Amino acid sequence: MPIVGSGWKMNHLRSDIADYAAAVRKGLADVDTTQLELFVLPPFTGLVTAHEAFSGTGIAIGGQNMHWAEHGAFTGEISARMLRDVGCSHVALGHAERFQYFGESYEAVGLKVAAALENDLKPILCLGEGVEDKEEGRAEEVLGSQLSMALTKVSPEDLPRIILAYEPRWAIGQKAAADPAYVLERHRGLRATIEERHGSAAAAAIRIIYGGSVDRSNAGTLMALQEVDGLFVGRYAWSAEGFIDIVRIVAAHHSKGRMP
Ligand code: PGA
Repeated sequence: MPIVGSGWKMNHLRSDIADYAAAVRKGLADVDTTQLELFVLPPFTGLVTAHEAFSGTGIAIGGQNMHWAEHGAFTGEISARMLRDVGCSHVALGHAERFQYFGESYEAVGLKVAAALENDLKPILCLGEGVEDKEEGRAEEVLGSQLSMALTKVSPEDLPRIILAYEPRWAIGQKAAADPAYVLERHRGLRATIEERHGSAAAAAIRIIYGGSVDRSNAGTLMALQEVDGLFVGRYAWSAEGFIDIVRIVAAHHSKGRMP
């Protein structure tokens, strides 16, 4: 089932969320959303509103981050159980901006992935190489090590519950997405790494989505790649119209099969 998700980052008040959901409800009324996995990741303050506003649309709600502990003295943090409590089914972990601005580490991401799975939240595990890694030909190596740190506590049978979001750091917030041939190579590499470490069943089952400057001009080309199971969209889907555009493009690809 193809995936479309949008991380709203630090955007949208509760009143915007109600309008966004109403527009999406209308704009996707003729699309069979049961054939897609759709999610939005509002800021924490909007989760309750979003859960109500999107109910019955088939669009799941998720957090943009969480702490790995269940509860305790962790000022400013929220737990997997708290996300569940407000209706979340998904959570993004290890987004590039968490590294860039908040000193996140993949050791922490590994703890968060395990806590999310224990609490029945679907982790959207973000991976991505920096521009220097790319230029020096180290992308594969960097992604492999991010993956191993993030999955240290995950058993192979839990892998299909994880969505891998390949988001090259140099392609986030830019004018253009990564080149499709490059995306294909990285997605193939990630799947091959999963196969090598966790077996072919896990490799076939895990979903890998692409994120980084996705918009209506590139969504179709990216979705046409056999290895791309969906799209993770930032700026372009901060408006309901943008989200609707991308969902419609992805829905048109839903009959696509797995890699040959
Ligand atoms: P962008 O963000 O689509 O605005 O580049 C993508 C992301 O950060 O997931």
